[in-house]
Amino acid sequence: MATTWIDAVVTDRTMTTPRVVVLDLEPIDGNPFPEHEAGAHIDVLLSPLGSGTPLVRQYSLCGEPGNRKRYRIAVLREERSRGGSVAMHRFEVGDHVRISAPRNIFRLVPARRHLLFAGGIGITPLVAMAQQLDATGGDYTLHYCARSAADVALTEWFSDHPRIVLHLDDQPAEQKLDLRRDLGDPAEDTAVYVCGPGPFMDHVLDGARALGWPPSALHKERFTPTAAAAEAAPGGEDGDGFIVRLASSGAEYHVPPEESVLDVLLRNGVDAPSSCQQGICGECVVRVLAGEPDHRDDVLTDGERAAGLFTTCSSRALSPRLELDL
Ligand code: FES
Repeated sequence: MATTWIDAVVTDRTMTTPRVVVLDLEPIDGNPFPEHEAGAHIDVLLSPLGSGTPLVRQYSLCGEPGNRKRYRIAVLREERSRGGSVAMHRFEVGDHVRISAPRNIFRLVPARRHLLFAGGIGITPLVAMAQQLDATGGDYTLHYCARSAADVALTEWFSDHPRIVLHLDDQPAEQKLDLRRDLGDPAEDTAVYVCGPGPFMDHVLDGARALGWPPSALHKERFTPTAAAAEAAPGGEDGDGFIVRLASSGAEYHVPPEESVLDVLLRNGVDAPSSCQQGICGECVVRVLAGEPDHRDDVLTDGERAAGLFTTCSSRALSPRLELDL
């Protein structure tokens, strides 16, 4: 389904660090925004509607969860921006912007204790989780790793909060993140959440696994695909690609090695959902009814894959055909 865009206006703009801008968005028509919980993200449309493939970027909501009058996002200006972060940094108060309703694939799960690990701009969904846990009396610790004090974003949150621990790269070694100390051995009824740049996430997730934490306790959200996933998409299988069949209509389409399933569906006018097109947001997920998928996303859990879920933007087929529940 095509995204339904919501018109919003920028009502506040603050540079929280030299490279991170915080934007507050409010509805233009006065109707409240859709509900959201901590961990949710929105799409921001950065190109005019109807101008070909839309330029869309995803940003986690980092304001107070449940606030339907105002959404807050924080955007890092990337050194090697593909156009998104530079455009976002140009927004000024009063500018109009089109956003999607929030989606959430990074929710707080029921647990007695929550351990949150943020690297750099990965603080955005985790600071929303911290707010939600503060509001509900949840037991948590948030470890926030930044290059220096000047790079600590959303600073109003990080002065003497008893549950937040800062780890700064340019400070003494003893305050740096130490997974043996700060994560420790697996603990029952404890959930671990990780968000940040790829190397940071790999460090925490690999370290957690090495300490014996089970995959079911580890929750993550990536902003970019892993190197392996990026290299794998879109082609890769031997031969001439494969066939996708749509269960609802019986239509069959050939997916060549150089195109994704999603590309082929959209090219043929199929109303297939999508957002990031990088295998990290989960928006394009459909169910496979027959055939053997070749999963190349970085969003589905092993359980979701076993249940037949499949990302059309990044995953492919090991069998000559896939039948999709579309
Ligand atoms: S569109 Fe985001 S995972 Fe496919």
